[in-house]
Amino acid sequence: MSIRISVIGTGYLGATHAAAMAELGYEVIGVEVNPERLASLSQGHLPFYEPGLDEVLLANVRNGRLRFTSDAAEAAAWADVQFLCVGTPQVAGSDAADMSYAFAAIEALAPHIKQGALLVGKSTVPVGTTHELQRRLLEIAPDRTDVRFAWNPEFLREGFALEDTLHPDRIVIGVSDEADADTLRQVYAPMITEGIPLIVTDVTTAELVKVAANSFLATKISFINAMAEVCEAAGGDVTTLAEAIGHDVRIGSRFLGAGVGFGGGCLPKDIRAFAHRAGEIGAGPAVAFLKEVDLINLRRRERIIELVETEIGSVTGRRIAVLGATFKPDSDDVRDSPALAVSRRLHELGAIVTVHDPKGVENAERALPDVAYTTVVTEALSGAEAVLHLTEWREYRALEPKDVLPLVANPFIVDGRNVLDVALWQNQGWTVRAPGRTL
Ligand code: UGA
Repeated sequence: MSIRISVIGTGYLGATHAAAMAELGYEVIGVEVNPERLASLSQGHLPFYEPGLDEVLLANVRNGRLRFTSDAAEAAAWADVQFLCVGTPQVAGSDAADMSYAFAAIEALAPHIKQGALLVGKSTVPVGTTHELQRRLLEIAPDRTDVRFAWNPEFLREGFALEDTLHPDRIVIGVSDEADADTLRQVYAPMITEGIPLIVTDVTTAELVKVAANSFLATKISFINAMAEVCEAAGGDVTTLAEAIGHDVRIGSRFLGAGVGFGGGCLPKDIRAFAHRAGEIGAGPAVAFLKEVDLINLRRRERIIELVETEIGSVTGRRIAVLGATFKPDSDDVRDSPALAVSRRLHELGAIVTVHDPKGVENAERALPDVAYTTVVTEALSGAEAVLHLTEWREYRALEPKDVLPLVANPFIVDGRNVLDVALWQNQGWTVRAPGRTL
């Protein structure tokens, strides 16, 4: 009989995983507690923007392999493999990860879980979580020693969620029993046959792999942003520096994009939660550098404001166009978005800010209601005394500088992502500034 799969928590990670598992041919049930999200997913509509995922979701809801429920007990009693995909956001006022959703899920599942089912964690969590979940399960249901636990971190990027889930760089499985690894080998068989590397390890290492990977990526971005600061002081050019060091295959050119820095629902909160957890287990000094990684990243947002003020003076009462609201392109996610953080700061300083974004306006308006929004780029540019390019949507690179020049009050642009064709903008009458560069 085919393995039945449940996915507990159908946010970005869970909705993608549920759709991907159904696409591989499994019968899947997703558990969602938010009534709006549940209604949307049940109709095959994705409640967020992710290229290509909506078609796969809809197809699998229609063919009956994928369904959603709010009833954790139903899913718990039905599925053989239960993937835990709940969110682990940052606790307000602390660097720690909020584990309340994971603990609530275990409480909801525990009394009903199918005999011998395998509970597989996928969320990004503090090291030690698998053991803590197991302990909590046995506290609620002391006789359920039959329930198995595994950790199987997810590495998907927003904007490439489906591709990353179905064709990941690697599959990591953390188990305490080889039989559980076999169950997951079976689940992922189509991918393993494709030649995707499989790493089987203990649950602790598997939990750590995920936070280590995100910490490395954040550190790489902050490294190049630190070099941007040095370039600014010395008069160098960070984009050329990045290109030159990136040719060394040991360094590699990816994630060396200097600019306004990283944001999103993962990297910022993951490095903070990792440093926090490391402190709790007595390994604080080992990752103390992550505090610096965070600070370098946050300083880049201030730098964008400095570049504007150096060019136009005080921003109070000045019209500023911000291009981009999301934390990166091809997403409608504005969590910890550098573009929105800069917009908020400009607003606090008294600037008249209009933010443009192709997909993120709705979420941005909820997060920062005080500034103006538009989905028409020419509207944002109209009358602007400074234009800030802060999220690298393709359509901004496609702008023809001479065509949009008559719209603005002052042809001045800050390329906060270092991806615009600076020579083109300059040749067509614009003053261009960019972090880490002398232009
Ligand atoms: C990140 C990781 O890349 C995924 O592997 C991981 O699975 C995911 O977090 C997660 O933990 O769920 P994501 O948050 O979608 O994925 O975004 P990234 O593509 O990593 O970008 C993060 C931020 O870094 C964005 O704000 C982006 O603009 C910024 N960035 C990226 C730079 O500033 N410079 C770069 O060179 C690259």
